[in-house]
Amino acid sequence: MSYNIKVTKVTESKVNQVDLNNVAMGFNFSDHMFICDYHDGEWQNPRIEPLALIPTHPAAMALHYGQAIFEGMKATKGKDGTPLLFRPDQNAKRLNFSANRMGMPLFPEDLFVESLKQFTALEKDWIPTKDGSALYLRPFMYADEPFIGMRAATSFKFIIMASPAGPFFNKKIKLFAERKYVRAVNGGTGEAKAAGNYAAAIRPTEFAKAKGYDQVLWLDAHKFEYIQEVGTMNIFFKIAGKFITPSLTGSVLAGITRMSVIDLLRSKGFTVEERPIKMLEIVEASHNKTLEEAFGTGTAVGIAMVEEIGNSSMTIKFPAQNPVSTMINDTLNAIKVQNEEDKFGWIVEAK
Ligand SMILES: Cc1ncc(COP(=O)(O)O)c(C=O)c1O
Repeated sequence: MSYNIKVTKVTESKVNQVDLNNVAMGFNFSDHMFICDYHDGEWQNPRIEPLALIPTHPAAMALHYGQAIFEGMKATKGKDGTPLLFRPDQNAKRLNFSANRMGMPLFPEDLFVESLKQFTALEKDWIPTKDGSALYLRPFMYADEPFIGMRAATSFKFIIMASPAGPFFNKKIKLFAERKYVRAVNGGTGEAKAAGNYAAAIRPTEFAKAKGYDQVLWLDAHKFEYIQEVGTMNIFFKIAGKFITPSLTGSVLAGITRMSVIDLLRSKGFTVEERPIKMLEIVEASHNKTLEEAFGTGTAVGIAMVEEIGNSSMTIKFPAQNPVSTMINDTLNAIKVQNEEDKFGWIVEAK
């Protein structure tokens, strides 16, 4: 279907007020936003406008009952300066997976990709070009119907906004193996990108940081035996030459970086197993000296190498060298800026 997206541009861009080569993600926002409204059972009035405050009724249902979901992706620039997106079709699918779980309307996947392309093309001057930098894109949907009562809302907004982002973690990370709080249970909302999941993780993450760790390593909700994921990343271990990552069994977010890294590793001849992983297996591999590497994967971070996993009863140190993780990180970054051939067809030009 073709959509008519009405575009109203700012009279003067703020891009010159920001040092794009020296920005931390999330503090600065680009000039425009894409907005679409859902009411009377359909998405209406897709438009790009100057970024502005949105009047919100105090009874807007997202504020009370948490019908709010989001996506995260990054735009880069190719060799000739063309703005590029990474697998936007996968974000469209995941947004709708989340929408379905949270009782929210699906957003047309072709409009999702089309609006991202138009929005990114318009904001191309906001895409930083320094190594590891990108324009972070934040599509999100929330219930804006004013109503007090527990049911699915009938009116929603879908918005895309953007924030220029430098490299995220520039050091190896320490993970706190959490044994009190949990992120997700099977049948819960952990495999959706629902705002409430992140709210529940904030306190435990603050506690972990206060103990000197960077992120929480989430374990299963029943016995704290199985590894789920880490902070806002999926996790991979390299043990005795093979890569292992927790399988998607209902409580892990299906990361787009995760699925890309699995394909990349396999294409380079590595074995990747997707299966349940016990914490004990990592402890034993450490004792046997077969624990080789570990890294988190996520859009915001890319690949974050793990230095240590610990809590009050144990500490696992990882080897200092991360040759395969480094190679995968470099390859992904090179594909994203067209310095390496995109054999998988992941890159979409935002023209
Ligand atoms: C809980 C969680 N797990 C994993 C990921 C990694 O997903 P992706 O690679 O699609 O960014 C994210 C980030 O979106 C996340 O929030």
